[in-house]
Amino acid sequence: MALPAFPLNETPGLLRGKTALVTGGASGIGRATAALFQASGAKVIVADIGAKESDRAVDGEFGPLWHADVADENSVARLATRIGAGRSTLDILVNCAGVPQSYTPIETMTVEAWDRIMNVNARSLFLMAKHFLPLLRASGHASIVNICSVIAVRPKPGLAAYGASKAAAVATTQSLALELAKDGIRVNGINPGATETPMLSGFTGGKDVQEVVGSFASQIPMGEIIRPDDIAGAALYLASDLARLVTGATLNVDGGRTV
Ligand SMILES: NC(=O)c1ccc[n+]([C@@H]2O[C@H](COP(=O)([O-])OP(=O)(O)OC[C@H]3O[C@@H](n4cnc5c(N)ncnc54)[C@H](O)[C@@H]3O)[C@@H](O)[C@H]2O)c1
Repeated sequence: MALPAFPLNETPGLLRGKTALVTGGASGIGRATAALFQASGAKVIVADIGAKESDRAVDGEFGPLWHADVADENSVARLATRIGAGRSTLDILVNCAGVPQSYTPIETMTVEAWDRIMNVNARSLFLMAKHFLPLLRASGHASIVNICSVIAVRPKPGLAAYGASKAAAVATTQSLALELAKDGIRVNGINPGATETPMLSGFTGGKDVQEVVGSFASQIPMGEIIRPDDIAGAALYLASDLARLVTGATLNVDGGRTV
């Protein structure tokens, strides 16, 4: 039996007065997070590799939409300079941009493919923290939310690069939580279970998402696949002042899959 969804259009103004940057916000979990944050009163900025490269942001679905490749230091530095030109603080950073891996036996994995997955999913957290630190510090009570994955605690065969990148994301989250606590910056992670987004087909060798939803759902104790809104709800909690003293945590949102 599917549980009723939370009425997301009735979220209280938990993020009123705050500005949030969501990477990977053009699709899936990032898009749902940007929508929920906007509905919760935040000014939302989105950065995505799919956006058009330009000196100026275009009008996105939820606010300014910037092009950025979060794996590339020059691109991240440029993004920080451009966003910093229009404001002096940033309250929330959600690192959601990511790439999947389809089943790859280790002997056929190329160094290029390994490095790209590591760089987009893990190095990006370091680059975003490094270049956005001045803006986040100026907030006085900023929150970083890193979208990791249950694979960090439940590895799968053939997904070594993806698993390594997400385990690195969890470790980076914990280390930064300790390092940035003195700046009033909280750093937390979310481990989504299999979530119904375009990325799912990337894990299944290009199969249609609808085709594979049932088989993923059958492995989840709660009996249904995770929806992007479920992850956005967890991100809203971690980004908001409700989680005032929560830092270094990684919240599994997986219908009980990792228990
Ligand atoms: N869908 C799942 O089952 C699942 C499970 C666990 C974790 N996750 C994680 O959740 C996050 C969001 O994934 P999703 O399922 O919404 O996928 P998605 O493919 O729907 O969205 C990913 C977004 O990231 C953007 N992106 C990719 N590479 C980028 C780069 N180098 N720079 C900037 N933007 C980039 C894409 O253009 C896209 O808009 C990812 O980090 C993913 O690893 C997803």
